[in-house]
Amino acid sequence: MGEATIIDGKAIALKVRQDVAARVARLTTTTGVKPGLAVVLVGEDAASQVYVRSKGKATREAGMESFEFRMPASSTADEVLARVAELNASDEVNGILVQLPLPDQIDEHHVIDAIDPLKDVDGFHAINTGRLSSGQEAMVPCTPLGCQILLREHLGTDGLKGANAVIVGRSNIVGKPMAQLLLQDHCTVTIAHSRTRDLADVVRRADIVVAAVGRPEMVRGDWIRPGATVIDVGVNRMARDDGKTRLVGDVCFAEGVKVAGAITPVPGGVGPMTIACLLVNTLHAACRQNQVAVPEA
Ligand code: GUN
Repeated sequence: MGEATIIDGKAIALKVRQDVAARVARLTTTTGVKPGLAVVLVGEDAASQVYVRSKGKATREAGMESFEFRMPASSTADEVLARVAELNASDEVNGILVQLPLPDQIDEHHVIDAIDPLKDVDGFHAINTGRLSSGQEAMVPCTPLGCQILLREHLGTDGLKGANAVIVGRSNIVGKPMAQLLLQDHCTVTIAHSRTRDLADVVRRADIVVAAVGRPEMVRGDWIRPGATVIDVGVNRMARDDGKTRLVGDVCFAEGVKVAGAITPVPGGVGPMTIACLLVNTLHAACRQNQVAVPEA
């Protein structure tokens, strides 16, 4: 068997971003509405700072307004809630994203559930998770939405139908919403995690593997069924011999690429899709709040 197809998330994300930019341009010319995204970053987490910067840049490149709010790590829950209330009330802000993780003194659920569900472009509010699970129109979390787009591009909707999908990881950000999206695409879905018995055997039965556990290179080549489609959500920074760091996924790419039918690289796979989907969600939120249809590209 030859090497796997490398799923080019960067190229697919670029297409999505160009599509969003064209729709935003049309929305603004025809209605005067310019979508706005507010990102709130509490504290100094290095990875979060990098994410927030690239989110702001992508937002502006799509023709949308970007608002950034940095708050000290010592902020109280009330201070963050006051910021959220102000953004909920602002007509210029269509999407609100509070970057996670939050400092320990602040309850994440409390903050997320204070966001207006119509502005919850992360799709983390209980209203949106509930709507997604019950098959109603919802704001869908960006990372799993990006994975779904990659899977549909590679396998087509017929290729997903009836497939055995195994998600490794049960987080609210990826694993749980990913399961809902795969169910909508008619997969048979298993959510495995760190306590799953015989994890390698469970993964070996999968036609589709979505790895989102946050453990560097945990999924080995011999866990993967030959020809399977592998989506690697992991972003793990590893020390190199020369003192620098490199990014690796949750899948050992060098082994996986020899067995899989298709695999996403890290970086350049799921990561760029997450930001592209944030822009999609912001556009949809702006249209919904202004009661206009999403324009054609
Ligand atoms: N931290 C890691 N991923 C995410 C995400 O998708 N949204 C937010 N708000 N924080 C994150």
